[in-house]
Amino acid sequence: MELKTLFAIPVVKIRVPETEALKQQFLPEMLRRYEAQSYERPALWETDRVHTSFGKASRDQVIDPLPEAYAKLVRQFVNSERANLSIWHNVYWTRGEYQERHHHIPYHFSFIHFMAFDKAEHRPPIFYDPSRMIKAYCSHDGIPPAYWSESAVIDVEEGDALVFPSYLEHHVPPGKYTKPRVTVSINVAMPQGGPPEPRPRSGA
Ligand SMILES: [Fe+2]
Repeated sequence: MELKTLFAIPVVKIRVPETEALKQQFLPEMLRRYEAQSYERPALWETDRVHTSFGKASRDQVIDPLPEAYAKLVRQFVNSERANLSIWHNVYWTRGEYQERHHHIPYHFSFIHFMAFDKAEHRPPIFYDPSRMIKAYCSHDGIPPAYWSESAVIDVEEGDALVFPSYLEHHVPPGKYTKPRVTVSINVAMPQGGPPEPRPRSGA
């Protein structure tokens, strides 16, 4: 007997070696803005407890322009000079912040960098199988969970980044923490439609 798992969803965990430098450069201002409650809740989000710079203009971002460390990270996954990037940060700390289940469509690739994350108290995001509605039909304690389980957690620590297709739903569970849990998110959209760019010819 051989079990084949079809249509696996690629999620990559990768270390960001520049994490400590990024943290020193950006974290103090991120925490200052958290204390000042600088950001309004984004339109269309359901959560009423959140601190995020998502959707804010470049001039209102702590991270702008894109640091080389993140540009290098993205280049490992996306082979296009014309990719459209969006970057923001999120702080989950003392107010029980959370974010409801959501996806990052219409972007193509999404990144979460765990800039400040203590495994001893911080909760990682929970990912959901796109087939979860169909799998619910098969849910039964007499059937092995591998056939119907719909959610998964990836063990992460500070300095890790998760890279995943933007259609993959996830949510950030609530928590009141003694230390700030800070993530930096990046969305990448590839150019749509049209023929591929002509390749430069080599040689004379
Ligand atoms: Fe997200």
